[in-house]
Amino acid sequence: MEKILIEGGRRLEGTVAISGAKNAALPILVSALLTDGWNTYQNVPELRDVMTINKLLTELGARVETEKNTVRVNAGALSRYEAPYELVRTMRASVLVLGPLLARLGRARVSLPGGCAIGARPINLHLRGLELLGAEISLSHGYIEAKAKSLKGTDIYFDIVTVTGTENLMMAAVLAEGTTTLRNAAREPEVCALAEALNQMGAQISGAGTPMITIRGVDTLRPASVTIIPDRIETGTFIIASALTQGNIKIVSCEPSHLTAVIHKVREAGVTIEEEPGGLRVIGGEPICSVDVKTLPYPGFPTDMQAQFMVLMCLASGLSVISETIFENRFIHVCELQRMGANIKVSGNTAIVSGGKSLTGAPVMATDLRASASLILAGLAAKGTTEVSRVYHIDRGYEAIEKKLAQLGANIRRVQIT
Ligand code: EPU
Repeated sequence: MEKILIEGGRRLEGTVAISGAKNAALPILVSALLTDGWNTYQNVPELRDVMTINKLLTELGARVETEKNTVRVNAGALSRYEAPYELVRTMRASVLVLGPLLARLGRARVSLPGGCAIGARPINLHLRGLELLGAEISLSHGYIEAKAKSLKGTDIYFDIVTVTGTENLMMAAVLAEGTTTLRNAAREPEVCALAEALNQMGAQISGAGTPMITIRGVDTLRPASVTIIPDRIETGTFIIASALTQGNIKIVSCEPSHLTAVIHKVREAGVTIEEEPGGLRVIGGEPICSVDVKTLPYPGFPTDMQAQFMVLMCLASGLSVISETIFENRFIHVCELQRMGANIKVSGNTAIVSGGKSLTGAPVMATDLRASASLILAGLAAKGTTEVSRVYHIDRGYEAIEKKLAQLGANIRRVQIT
């Protein structure tokens, strides 16, 4: 087992390069299932979730070659159509294989993901959409069994904006007969990145980035060569890291236009964020002002930045109201932040943060990916030592976070514990 130890109070300075986006890499790697031949993916982050998806692709019979941040996938000889429980339970995004397997093989068997630390997270909208495309779906022994002789283009409306739901149906529809329209589709940059990757493969997708995506089905797709977009949540996490430590850092290899809401809210809190050639400069200072935030689908404030923003608000002067509208249980980090001295009250989907208290280092436990990022951030700002355990959560989605923070001057290290 490993822990991350942080000695707080260091001002961050220097330059940090952002890695490829986990949530773009996962669906794009899966899109290789739609074709035979070697697809090449660059700027793929070295993460546990990427290893899991590569393992799943391999189990399905695809060949996967990895060399640092380049991954090559050839799904020419798919031999299986099952995403087993052991993999889906470690990473829900495994359900992304449903759409492409149905499109390519007319069959998929995928373990139904249960709830997770941040909410129930059903996939009913993925399944309903696949049924509308002509698939027969049943549930047996905890597995979704999906079959389709052929998929036919249709009109699909999502009751709730769903990121992986939009991605799954986009991948199912690219090889369907006729045209599919996805309404109230997710507009996240990762959805646009997948649409671009699919179009490079010869798909006919328009409207990605708007609430209506149109997919004209084609007969076959060809392999593609794709560079993964920068991770906007990692970028946002480093913005907060600089803000919390009165730092002065330059963030490069990022895409500021994907972070408009985050940049606005952090600026509102009194932090200087300037666009510079090649990236963003973030200069933290005092005082930090209290700001209210509500998480929303893109282009609103991302739920994946809520926990990190809350840490900034712990140091602000006054009250901040944070409303979580995407997941029903995404305040688990609050109890751990309280152990570090934060004054936060939760009622339903709202957290009220009374800022102005200094944080003190404590042993804390990571419960999910973004919660663990928030604990590391809190540790950077706290007096004394913070010990974050269960760091495997952070390794799912942040590439070498402690190395990047240490290069900026943070006193942070990973230790083995017995
Ligand atoms: N929902 C349903 N039915 C569905 C699908 C979704 O009710 O069929 C609900 C969910 O329960 C949730 C809301 O719709 O309340 C939005 O969920 P969404 O489907 O958009 O989430 P997701 O696709 O499972 C992706 C990211 C998450 C990110 C959310 C929201 C990936 C692999 N995961 O999840 O990322 O929080 O969108 O932006 O893209 C993370 O990286 O830490 C992470 C959790």
